[in-house]
Amino acid sequence: MILRRRCGASDCLAWFFISGIALVFFLICSILYGTRTENPSLPQAVQEVLPAGRCLCQQSTTFNCESCLDCAARPAIVANATHALETWEFDFRRDGSNYGLDEDQCAAAFPGLFEDIERAKNFRKGRGLVTQKNLTDFELTKGMVRAMIHDGQLYILQTCLVDNINRQKAVASLAALHRAISAARDRPAIANIEFVLSVEDLPAQPEKPLWMLARRAQDEDLWLIPDFGWWSWDMPALGAFDEVADEAMQRERLEPWDAKKEKLVWRGKLNFAPKLRRALVEAAKGKSWSDVGQVKWEDTEFKEPGAHFLGPVDQCSYMFIAHAEGRSYSGALKYRQLCRSVIVSHKLQWIQHYHYLLLASGAKQNYVEVERDFSDLSSTMDDLLAHPEKAKRIADNNVKTFRERYLTGAAEACYWRALVQAWKEISFEPSLYETVADGQNKARQQKRGVRYETFILYDYESQVTFPQVAQ
Ligand SMILES: *[C@@H]1O[C@H](CO)[C@@H](O)[C@H](O)[C@H]1NC(C)=O
Ligand SMILES: *[C@@H]1O[C@H](CO)[C@@H](O)[C@H](O)[C@H]1NC(C)=O
Repeated sequence: MILRRRCGASDCLAWFFISGIALVFFLICSILYGTRTENPSLPQAVQEVLPAGRCLCQQSTTFNCESCLDCAARPAIVANATHALETWEFDFRRDGSNYGLDEDQCAAAFPGLFEDIERAKNFRKGRGLVTQKNLTDFELTKGMVRAMIHDGQLYILQTCLVDNINRQKAVASLAALHRAISAARDRPAIANIEFVLSVEDLPAQPEKPLWMLARRAQDEDLWLIPDFGWWSWDMPALGAFDEVADEAMQRERLEPWDAKKEKLVWRGKLNFAPKLRRALVEAAKGKSWSDVGQVKWEDTEFKEPGAHFLGPVDQCSYMFIAHAEGRSYSGALKYRQLCRSVIVSHKLQWIQHYHYLLLASGAKQNYVEVERDFSDLSSTMDDLLAHPEKAKRIADNNVKTFRERYLTGAAEACYWRALVQAWKEISFEPSLYETVADGQNKARQQKRGVRYETFILYDYESQVTFPQVAQ
């Protein structure tokens, strides 16, 4: 009754209405501010409402593939006498950029590299083969390319690319696939297949059997392809992946382990994954071991002390390199793994094709894993700094496992070919020709798509929406 006297029903309603709108307005503004700003410290209220977004911070995928690495350390025994090589061992210096290792050599050199292909194949086998209709009964969305391999040649059937970055990623991925099949020891044995690949970070249609750059544990029907960066990426201080690797080795000659800074470095954009990346910045704030700072690409004269731009190889000057996922996986991980440094990563949610080889414990430990909120970052760093011999061992294992084995061009090409062969086992045989109506009820045979060699000669417009349907 008292309430009633103080504010009438309509007043009350209006008050609720206005404060409701104000609250919603405040929330929206806070979230917009929190996810977009590059301000290094946020008010507590804004931090509270910051959405985790795509980063479901409770989830991660940890692999234990120690057995893979164990057999990787032994020479391959090729049992079949028909094989010229009784025993053959992968040698980084000799074979690292050999895109044409044969199937036995690939299997011997890179155990554990084909785990996700096997997983995807087994998942599909339980659900029936992929039909042509499965690949044609949906519209291609941003970043997708429908393509075919026939008689060892790569054909582009359809593209849906929306901007130049999209186009570059797609062309780089196709180029890498083309390189892998061109280099095959037995090119006629390459399977005839049709597939749809996407170069978007996030799977737009995760329930479809698509080829993607990364997946979460629940995206079981996605097939992983190597990141386009193995071919090359058009950014300052990058380039072809093996070029960056060579740079890292060159740097290491001048700056061996003992000459590195005993600090943890990280550079990145906060607004790609605000909650996750801000947690890293917060956890490192004010620590003597920290050189963690955000990068503002648009701000060339970056004014915050100590947070100037660092290229991927510049990060090799530090003993410890932090890694954080972005909108989905972060392509930066593979560059960080080129350094003889200790990679300190939160538990990863996004799986890339070679992630099964990441090992967070044991004698072959090749990186250091912390929680997704970085709550144990400080104690982890204290432990690493107190045990330099352990840190050195992890950094050496990082180089041995990744730079000198699983991140080589040889491994990338082996992976692409294994993907093609496995996809063939669970999908249809495409035909090179299709029947098209030719005016007066006549049908004729027409070759499908365009060869990769021709496609790369096309101009921008023709590449981003191929084929262009006549208006
Ligand atoms: C030897 O060759 C046969 C047939 O070519 C094949 O089935 C078998 O798996 C091979 N063995 C090994 C160990 O590679
Ligand atoms: C593929 O197509 C078959 C029928 O042709 C259908 O039963 C199946 O659900 C489809 N699979 C996917 C992943 O779309």
